[in-house]
Amino acid sequence: MVKITYIEFDGKRNVVDVPANSTVMEGARDNNIRGIEADCGGACACSTCHIYVDPDWVDKLPKKDPVEEEMLDFALGCDALRSRLACQIRIKKSLEGLIVELPEKQI
Ligand code: FES
Repeated sequence: MVKITYIEFDGKRNVVDVPANSTVMEGARDNNIRGIEADCGGACACSTCHIYVDPDWVDKLPKKDPVEEEMLDFALGCDALRSRLACQIRIKKSLEGLIVELPEKQI
């Protein structure tokens, strides 16, 4: 398990243990954390799993692939530096302590 902190729009911090090889989206969904809709179920086809990565973690994550970049164009309030699709970030041990923030709303 890998400890991930999800900060909801109102500032509520949720520190949860997420299984390795699942995704940041699944960690939020499976722990009933508000702010992730994940309409496409993780297929990188909806952008309703948009999150903001803590600035200290941006460079520690794998780079966005072109499909994620394209889908992020549809995310509300996209930040070129910090925005990611949570379904495209796979959990591994090196992400222990990752902090992400959830937007006020998705699309
Ligand atoms: Fe649809 Fe991530 S769940 S793009």
